[in-house]
Amino acid sequence: MEWDQVWIDINIASMDPALSGGYGEITDAAMAIINDKIVWIGPRDQLPAFDVLSTPVYRGGGGWITPGLIDAHTHLLFAGNRANEFEMRLQGASYQDIAKAGGGILATVKATRAASDADLFELGRKRLNALAKEGVTTIEIKSGYGLELDTELKILRVARELGKHHHVDVKTTFLGAHAVAPEYQHDSDAYVDAIINEMLPAVMAENLADAFDVFCENIAFSPEQTAKLLRAAKTAGLDIKLHAEQLSNLGGSQLAASLGAKSVDHLEYLDEAGVKAIAASGTCATLLPGAFYFLRETKLPPIELLRQYQVPMVIASDYNPGSSPICSTLLMLNMACTLFRLTPAEALAGVTRHAAKALGIEDKVGVLAVGMQADFCLWDITHPAELAYSYGTNPFKHAVKAGKLIHQ
Ligand code: NIG
Ligand code: FE
Repeated sequence: MEWDQVWIDINIASMDPALSGGYGEITDAAMAIINDKIVWIGPRDQLPAFDVLSTPVYRGGGGWITPGLIDAHTHLLFAGNRANEFEMRLQGASYQDIAKAGGGILATVKATRAASDADLFELGRKRLNALAKEGVTTIEIKSGYGLELDTELKILRVARELGKHHHVDVKTTFLGAHAVAPEYQHDSDAYVDAIINEMLPAVMAENLADAFDVFCENIAFSPEQTAKLLRAAKTAGLDIKLHAEQLSNLGGSQLAASLGAKSVDHLEYLDEAGVKAIAASGTCATLLPGAFYFLRETKLPPIELLRQYQVPMVIASDYNPGSSPICSTLLMLNMACTLFRLTPAEALAGVTRHAAKALGIEDKVGVLAVGMQADFCLWDITHPAELAYSYGTNPFKHAVKAGKLIHQ
């Protein structure tokens, strides 16, 4: 056999549903790679003979290999911070009160409009490095802190640039409909029209977005406005997804499901009709424990119903300055288990196989199997449950991205 690299002295949590056990585990495993692809994976004692003199062999020291982590919902590119609002909330103000008083998303919009491309790139680079050091190899980045053409384009361009300059793959989402722009406070329908007629065509012309998202909520866009926006994005050829049922139940999930959304995200207020609708459309349920935690939400997403209807559950950081200022995908694994009672295997599927599905890249990444891209991490752990169990000592050792060992 002629291979570009072989890994031995490893255990593998392949996350391949074709293998038994929640992790698709292969203990005392081996894996072979040619170019950017996995060409052999299985128990070490079944590894075909290969030329040991000409093949680089990597030893994993008995650690575990998982697919590279995928953070499928982030607002990574913003300027400033909202620590002052954190203090206000500690004194009793609610997230909605602050938003209605012109703070919240609009406060970050002000800071982000004022930031230069270079400043924004540098902020993003540092944050992306922090995530990469925890094993993230693919990330989704939303715009949504511009709410005007130039700044929305600026954020998406910087996101694309980050993807070009960093080994982490970046998928971009145009979220011009994150909040009603300050210029349109008294005419949100006119802002919806501006998104559809001015911003979306400009985003498409520069190929700046892979997907389109809306915040469907009583402090943002109504279901009617959301429907109009999602339809326009779909017609333009973008994947669609939705911030839905975070603070109330407006039926956004059903609407998004009826339009074939890849995912609906947050979902604390999702009911059984909504769960049925997303199950029927094959839409993923993205759960965001960081926002649940930081907003001290008490209403849990309907986890048991999601399990019952076999909806793929995604776990993501929702990293943003208002509701989840926590730049850690690993901590989300822990929170998914402690706060939402997911099993560690479900949580890991949420940042690998299911996250890939939510981004429409499940044919390439998220599972370790023959033919898949060689995106994986080596961890200094004795069982994959440790990734969700403990936090703070970071057991990450190495990432391999598209067959390349990353030095960081
Ligand atoms: O996903 N819910 C809407 N958007 C973000 C929060 C954005 C912000 O507060 O800046 C979220 O929670
Ligand atoms: Fe979000």
